[in-house]
Amino acid sequence: MTQASTWEQILDFSNRANPYPFYDELRRTPVTRLADGSYLVSTYAEIAALLHDPRVSSDITRNPAAAAAGATADGDDGDGPGMTPTFLSMDPPDHDKFRRITMRHFGPPTTPGRVAGMEARMAEIVTDLVDNMTAQSRIDVVDDLAYPLPVTMICELLGVPPGDEQRFRVWVDVALQSTDPGLDPETQQEKRAEAGKELRAFMEELVEAHRRTPGPDLLSAMATDDGPEGRMPEEQLVSTGLLLLIAGHETTVNLISNGALTLLRHPAELQRLRDDPGLAIPMVEELLRYEPPVHFVPFRTALDDIDIAGTTIPAGASLTLVLASGNRDPAHVADPDLFIPDRRNNQHLGFGGGIHLCFGAPLARLEAQIALTAFATRLENPRMVSDPPPYRPSPFLRGPSHLLVDIDGIAARH
Ligand code: HEM
Repeated sequence: MTQASTWEQILDFSNRANPYPFYDELRRTPVTRLADGSYLVSTYAEIAALLHDPRVSSDITRNPAAAAAGATADGDDGDGPGMTPTFLSMDPPDHDKFRRITMRHFGPPTTPGRVAGMEARMAEIVTDLVDNMTAQSRIDVVDDLAYPLPVTMICELLGVPPGDEQRFRVWVDVALQSTDPGLDPETQQEKRAEAGKELRAFMEELVEAHRRTPGPDLLSAMATDDGPEGRMPEEQLVSTGLLLLIAGHETTVNLISNGALTLLRHPAELQRLRDDPGLAIPMVEELLRYEPPVHFVPFRTALDDIDIAGTTIPAGASLTLVLASGNRDPAHVADPDLFIPDRRNNQHLGFGGGIHLCFGAPLARLEAQIALTAFATRLENPRMVSDPPPYRPSPFLRGPSHLLVDIDGIAARH
């Protein structure tokens, strides 16, 4: 099989349940040139090097593959629907400045307690979600646990009123469907534009409301704060609010669903977590390596010729960094296809790396630790209804669309 056809197999929906043998194939050539002139990078050391290389740009307006896919048209920078660019798709110094202004209200050094302060509420939500399963003999891990927890948390963090979640869920679904490479570029662009307009109007309204009547939430803080670097421009604030809302959504849903699926496939590990909830911390790191929610990072651009693994990636070329493949590179981690929760190799690529390392990682980790511990300790005799479960369409934000599980009951809360 050529590397190009291996990549096609990875994108092909029929291989969504198990793309890993194709990643093994891809790693035979660490850096591959595809027919469209773009490059795939599949080995751990090379991906890690490029994530940290200042000659690799995240500025999507420079990217030829994004332009060809229509992701940069009509003010859509590929960040998401109809958005002005956020720091996700900026380079320094703007990236660093806007990330710092946002982080001021989310984490250390200015707001060190924000995520830890959400822990009790997270535990309360999970307890309620699991209590609600009491009368059921069959649950859907995605709809009943993995989706509602992160969505409720990100809404509370941003100050999205309860009830509005139903409004934007539809638009977020459309926006995410628009990233399906199986769709033709024109349809992708139409879907993005349609969902983008609605989402933007929703966030503009929300920012305005929080500016008039600020609350304890992140958006209110950002809309009213004149920190040392000034206030974020209005357009940028709306885009960043949407980025957090969307990035804080599907990814964590998939981590919890992929985690429950992996535990059901490894009953001995499920039992170990039941006996020792402290195992949740290294287990979530292993999940981010073994079944990561983000499989690859597309649309990076080489700003200069880059010599790597015997290949020269020419200036101007588009790169895709295949994080999920790097995570299973035997040159980086022993027995990569085994799920070993306490291997304590935290050097995975599940949250990316370098200056764009996931902003929401501390929040996502805590949510997954709490949700999976409750899954292990409170569901009695959980059994998967079908393995593999059905998958969502996207090859890069990968996770089950539903995960049906039969249970004998729910244990009392601790
Ligand atoms: C398990 C859940 C999550 C996973 C697997 C994940 C994964 C990632 C990855 C791989 C990147 C790097 C993208 C790149 O290099 O282009 C990233 C960046 C980012 N993530 Fe997450 N993420 C998760 C949860 C969250 C949450 C909960 C939030 C918001 C609260 C969030 C906000 C962001 C932002 C804003 C960036 C851009 C950072 C930058 O460009 O400096 N993520 N995430």
